[in-house]
Amino acid sequence: MPVAYIEDIARHVGEEVTIRGWLRHRRSSGKIHFLVVRDGTGDLQAVVSKGTVGEEQFAQSAALTQESSLILTGKVRQEARAPGGFELDVTRVEPVQLAEPFPIQPKEHGVGFLMEHRHLWLRSSRQHAILRIRHEIIRACRSFFDDRGFVLVDTPIFTPNACEGTTTLFQTQYFDETAFLTQSGQLYSEATAAAFGKVYCFGPTFRAEKSKTRRHLMEFWMVEPEVAFAELPDMIDLAEGFLSFIVGHVLKTSRNDLAVLERDLSKLERVVPPFPRITYEEAIALLQKKGNPIQRGDDFGGDEETLLSSEFDRPVIVHRYPAAIKAFYMQTDPSRPDLALCMDVLAPEGYGEIIGGGQRMHDHEQLLARIREHKLPEEAFRWYLDLRRYGSVPHAGFGMGIERAVAWICGLDHVRETIAFPRMLYKLYP
Ligand code: 4AD
Ligand code: MG
Repeated sequence: MPVAYIEDIARHVGEEVTIRGWLRHRRSSGKIHFLVVRDGTGDLQAVVSKGTVGEEQFAQSAALTQESSLILTGKVRQEARAPGGFELDVTRVEPVQLAEPFPIQPKEHGVGFLMEHRHLWLRSSRQHAILRIRHEIIRACRSFFDDRGFVLVDTPIFTPNACEGTTTLFQTQYFDETAFLTQSGQLYSEATAAAFGKVYCFGPTFRAEKSKTRRHLMEFWMVEPEVAFAELPDMIDLAEGFLSFIVGHVLKTSRNDLAVLERDLSKLERVVPPFPRITYEEAIALLQKKGNPIQRGDDFGGDEETLLSSEFDRPVIVHRYPAAIKAFYMQTDPSRPDLALCMDVLAPEGYGEIIGGGQRMHDHEQLLARIREHKLPEEAFRWYLDLRRYGSVPHAGFGMGIERAVAWICGLDHVRETIAFPRMLYKLYP
């Protein structure tokens, strides 16, 4: 019998096929069992009648528990009343394994309990929808850069130096040296941009953030373009095009999954260029007007980002923060040396920062002075300084955290559901 996936079921109407999956739930009435089966690609209602399958298989069906694995053979029929529009008239039932009582029942469970059972929670239709959208977001990230001539050059995870400041490094042993888990591929992408012109890297990044917020993970995935001969305005335009493309792609491919999440599509449909652009100083004035106690020179926390991003109906780009509160590698504004040529993109609906980036310092002497000011180990940055000795050019890039983007596009209130196995503060299981 041909094996079919539920997502292709419409092509098999009138045919007999085999479906392999797991039981979501069973409802029985006299001589009929209704089995709702999922196979990872969709759900299908299967009708098992005693008259067709015989006493033994009918009794086996009655014993099937939630999440039991099974193989069903039957004829596909169009059925307007069934969820999904099709039903399977079963001719053969083969249980594969009878599941023990499943911990996650179709009722409300606390988040703590669900997180402890994350390995099983992934089977729920909501988690399924989120992770499928994540997959489409990643596909869109890759296509966007691939179609524009960027070369994917991945960067290392073990590193001898910090990229985003030393306070959030995970330290590990690398034979007889100390190594750190990377916080960002950027520094290495600056080297590959000088080799390939336009590059991006995409991989896991690590931050020992001692903050328990709805936006922070200890391990998250970041996609980071880096472009030689590019400056801050080029990155602002690139980020705008990039985010519009991703949202457009998800709206095209993921309507059903967005519906499972009850996402308000009109909010996503507004994500088209031009995005508003404001300076850090304008952002401070706006926050103060809204009654936030922030002072010029302060960095934004979650509250400020939420407040700012709720002011706009599409992502807002905030640029030119004080150099003093930004990373060591940022180019300063020639007309205002106290400001960095950097930008953050804040997602709408209060989601806060999803992209950070800007122009990199390309002058050797200035960069060396910065490294010393920040008391960074010069020796570990020798290779990075070399990039300023051999054909240095203005260059710029940015990084987008995949999980933050997924939380926003899916409309979730916490990043913990945006990745299959989130690494959170003091939480390493499962
Ligand atoms: O703003 P960040 O720290 O920028 C960088 O790492 C640059 N080196 C990137 C570059 O220019 N190539 O981080 C970039 C993005 C943030 O905007 C956010 O989306 C995400 O990474 N991010 C986190 N996501 C989840 N959990 C965390 N703890 C995150 N920290 C940053
Ligand atoms: Mg940032």
